Amino acid sequence: MTKWSPNSWRSKPIQQVPAYPDQAALAATEKQLATYPPLVFAGEARKLKKQLASVAAGDGFLLQGGDCAESFFEHGADNIRDFFRVFLQMAVVLTFAGSKPVVKVGRIAGQFAKPRSSDTETLNGVTLPSYRGDIINGIEFDQKSRVPDPARQEMAYRQSAATLNLLRAFAQGGYASLENVHRWMLGFVADSPQGERYQALANRITETMEFMRAIGITSETNFALRETDFYTSHEALLLGYEEALTRVDSTSGDWYATSGHMIWVGDRTRQPDHAHIEYCRGIKNPLGLKCGPSLSSDGLLQLIDLLNPENEPGRLTLIARFGSEKVAEHLPRLIRAVQAEGRNVVWSCDPMHGNTITLNSYKTRPFERILKEVQTFFEVHQAEGSHPGGIHIEMTGKNVTECTGGARAITAEDLHDRYHTHCDPRLNADQAIELAFLVSELLKKAVHPAESLTSRPAAE
Ligand code: PEP
Ligand code: CO
Repeated sequence: MTKWSPNSWRSKPIQQVPAYPDQAALAATEKQLATYPPLVFAGEARKLKKQLASVAAGDGFLLQGGDCAESFFEHGADNIRDFFRVFLQMAVVLTFAGSKPVVKVGRIAGQFAKPRSSDTETLNGVTLPSYRGDIINGIEFDQKSRVPDPARQEMAYRQSAATLNLLRAFAQGGYASLENVHRWMLGFVADSPQGERYQALANRITETMEFMRAIGITSETNFALRETDFYTSHEALLLGYEEALTRVDSTSGDWYATSGHMIWVGDRTRQPDHAHIEYCRGIKNPLGLKCGPSLSSDGLLQLIDLLNPENEPGRLTLIARFGSEKVAEHLPRLIRAVQAEGRNVVWSCDPMHGNTITLNSYKTRPFERILKEVQTFFEVHQAEGSHPGGIHIEMTGKNVTECTGGARAITAEDLHDRYHTHCDPRLNADQAIELAFLVSELLKKAVHPAESLTSRPAAE
């Protein structure tokens, strides 16, 4: 194999490249970014890798989620806080059910660049370059907005830094303390069926905390009750930006992406001899790899050889995104190939990207298909004797109407009410918590198979 360097990807074929009209300006921005401070540290990425190694061994569960595409317009404290509290609610529901640590990874603080299935978009007879995410061009449908502008990379870097700063404060400054388990509830969720269910669980946690306080274990004396580890992740799509933030770790002498703790390769850019795989193979962060229906079993093994040649636990998370109709057909063959070769991976389920449909000209995802894909994912793992290690979702803390269904039964006609996403439809807070409860049932079954069967009420 040829020698890797942070820019060795530049000599490979590449997909999804924006057509920057001013290459000199692009190079100047990349040079500038290369002088800026790292957003995350190598030691944090190593800690995450260690936690993911436990997930691979069946001793934890990965919760990864956030926006499909972060936007400059939606950047604000309230959005970050609302996302974080729903994420914490989901995590607490899953921890309670699985009695195992939940590894928390946001699609946030860097999730800006989007792969597109077409280079152009046509509206009312006008054809323009596709929107590729706020780090590249603007979403407004006019010629000027759609021209890729390198200055946007600097904006994205600064927004990521500010977002991460608030997330770090929330995770470590007391907001994530289990004593706040009731306070994470959002007003509009509180009066929903999910709200009641969550309230009941939060009551049990509070009762347990009171008991622990009585015997001297409090959030003042025990940091695990007071703080949490929260990590960031995004698709490593815009490689010039990634290269500029690739730095040598002085402790180990290894290269790390410092744009986020974990980065993943998308389903459209995972060609083994192309640029995105080349870039990712050389950095030491934990990596994700999206696995869609077109990935052959041999193709997967080839990619695992490239991305995790030493079979290091926690290095590689395979994010299965087949769609509710296809997961039962494709997942078993991939699991068997991985098992036959003794490869150590985390298996995660992205029930979003294979379930996108168009209704009333809105891109949407029916909630029941999302649930079905997760359920089938668990069933397949049960049958194959492997660990269902996590979920990867697109969600927001806002009360949007982007995915149909859920307990509040959002219909095709409701979609236009609060459809705000800059790319794919996200679960709203209610739907995200509902999904967490469903996964919690599946986890309970996986952890205590006999108990959950016998404890089920006879009438059900
Ligand atoms: C995404 O995660 O937003 C995405 C584009 O996914 P995929 O590469 O799986 O299509
Ligand atoms: Co998406």
